[in-house]
Amino acid sequence: MSGPKKLFIKTYGCQMNVYDSERMAEALGAEGYVATDTVEDADMVLLNTCHIREKASEKLYSDLGRLRPLKAERPDLRIGVAGCVAQAEGAEILRRMPLVDLVVGPQSYHRLPAMAKAAEAGEKTVDTDFPEEDKFDHLPERPKAAVRPTAFLTVQEGCDKFCAFCVVPYTRGAEVSRPADRIIAEARGLVEKGVREITLLGQNVNAYHGGGEGGDWTLARLVRALAKVDGLERIRYTTSHPNDMGDDLIAAHGEEPKLMPYLHLPVQSGSDRILKAMARKHTAEQYLRLIERIRAARPDMMMSGDFIVGFPGETDADFDATMELIRAVNYGMAYSFKYSARPGTPAAEKPPVAAEIADARLQTLQALITGQQRAAQAAMVGREVSVLFEKPGRLEGQMIGKSDYLHAVHVVTDAAPGTIARVRISASAPNSLAGQIAGR
Ligand code: SAH
Ligand code: SF4
Ligand code: F3S
Repeated sequence: MSGPKKLFIKTYGCQMNVYDSERMAEALGAEGYVATDTVEDADMVLLNTCHIREKASEKLYSDLGRLRPLKAERPDLRIGVAGCVAQAEGAEILRRMPLVDLVVGPQSYHRLPAMAKAAEAGEKTVDTDFPEEDKFDHLPERPKAAVRPTAFLTVQEGCDKFCAFCVVPYTRGAEVSRPADRIIAEARGLVEKGVREITLLGQNVNAYHGGGEGGDWTLARLVRALAKVDGLERIRYTTSHPNDMGDDLIAAHGEEPKLMPYLHLPVQSGSDRILKAMARKHTAEQYLRLIERIRAARPDMMMSGDFIVGFPGETDADFDATMELIRAVNYGMAYSFKYSARPGTPAAEKPPVAAEIADARLQTLQALITGQQRAAQAAMVGREVSVLFEKPGRLEGQMIGKSDYLHAVHVVTDAAPGTIARVRISASAPNSLAGQIAGR
């Protein structure tokens, strides 16, 4: 073959998949693959898929359909399917789409290099095991040439919560936490390469209970240890479950300045009846009290959440309770979804809410959230925030960064990526803020 082999990865779904895609690119990099942005010149196409809602899953099959002419033209093009659809459907993907060469589930990425070799030799492989070993132990270290000033770092994976609507416990498996020393070592390595902000990832990140010095560590302890890493300026974590928000973690928000004042804490619904049917194991009131305690520790905490509308059995009154909860919390940001029945989950057995009703509720809810989001941004005007610059903006001399509250901020400055500066916010646009340097 002439020149290095080229790898095109498309990532769907959550941040965990973004992290996994980077690690897979590194694993295949060790096998001589270099990344390409264009599918046309790729030797291997890897689709890192998401199974969370029906639409997300369907994207895989429509994208595979679109690859058919390319594969017909170049039969030596190798096509791999990774991620949560790979885990959920396994060998079925090969049956439905014979152009696929390999199917690899999220817990088997350390086997990807061997599977890629097999694919090059014309052999099809499927691996959707949940092996005992930590997949990250077998992936190569991140390459020296750094990257962006922000990075994801997976600390925990999988979920034991089994919310009635959700596929994650099936696709990602049981909750597993990585040992604290490995995480700290990986964080140090990232900082050496120029990373200033790390977002700790887990499907239930605040349930983290990795082994460390002196026994089991909580996420709070891990955060406090990471805060001691010189050069690491900001720590975030996502996604959290309300029932795992420990007192020590809440306290850390009040005490650890490197822990950013933005918290994604999905609640899904504001109706206790629906929360019960969802098997969320908390009430709306408990969630609201929890947020009060968080805001007592960190009064400027920017709250974010996830909502599902049209869960089976949701009445107008249930929906009103969700709207009420959103008003009570006042979110800086929130994601909302129409319920999607997922095969194999308990809720999928129940009669659905009519699509028109669910659509209308979603619109109403999104209007409320958009209003809160705009108001939270507008409230930043005139304030001074810290901004971590990430990359040049579209305009001459402009840099784009993120505030402590995770707002995108546009500033005209000669500051390099990775610099943190105090910025006075002067204007709010629909999806970003603008400001001027206030001093370093
Ligand atoms: N572990 C995280 C994220 C799970 S998936 C958590 O517990 O919050 C991200 C979001 O997708 C969920 O919070 C939920 O709002 C949404 N979601 C999950 N399953 C869904 C389904 N079947 N239909 C619609 N939305 C769903
Ligand atoms: Fe899914 Fe619930 Fe687990 Fe979140 S907590 S990943 S919504 S089962
Ligand atoms: Fe999707 Fe899997 Fe993440 S289902 S949201 S890619 S954990």
